[in-house]
Amino acid sequence: MTTTASSQNKSIVDLIIADHATVTNLFKTFKAEKDEFQKRQIGYLIIKELSQHAFLEEEVLYPHYKTKLGARGLEFYEQSVKEHNELAKALGTVDDSHCAATATQKSGCCGMWNNVFKLTEEHVKDEETVVLPEVKKALKEQELIDLGKQYVETKPMMPTHPHPGMAITKGMWLADRALAAVDSATDAMRAKESPENPPSKKMCTCT
Ligand SMILES: [Fe+2]
Ligand SMILES: [Fe+2]
Repeated sequence: MTTTASSQNKSIVDLIIADHATVTNLFKTFKAEKDEFQKRQIGYLIIKELSQHAFLEEEVLYPHYKTKLGARGLEFYEQSVKEHNELAKALGTVDDSHCAATATQKSGCCGMWNNVFKLTEEHVKDEETVVLPEVKKALKEQELIDLGKQYVETKPMMPTHPHPGMAITKGMWLADRALAAVDSATDAMRAKESPENPPSKKMCTCT
């Protein structure tokens, strides 16, 4: 999900689908990884990618559901915001928790991650099979490209951690940027971690 020159002229629909593929691949890598440190790094990346993606959709695309998708637009909008909130809550449980290596806590961690995988997969399926095809029909090609440009340019300003309850609020534009600044402090701390320098509170990894 890096910003490249080629991504500047892409439709927002293609960019969103590419993001979904990136996250799906990260899930596979996370599940296969056995080393706790490496797995935690992949977990951090999943949290970042999913959080930025959700905030981006809410800021750049979802408002258009209500104005461009006719009668079903409001339904898509409300359902999508509800699903993002559920996912943000699930993601918050793995982001904030720190498991010791007991069997009970391990199974708790795995259950929390499995919930993140399940909610994401269901939401992605809804977007790709139901909502995004309607977006493609309703918006002109140039509008989709303009939104794609906005999507790419806005991404670095988006929060990198889940903030349940913040989806589509009044003053969202300002709130997103303020939360992103708070999140960057957490990310800077995590960037200092190494196998020799583990965090005192470990994120749940299900290893
Ligand atoms: Fe999405
Ligand atoms: Fe979404």
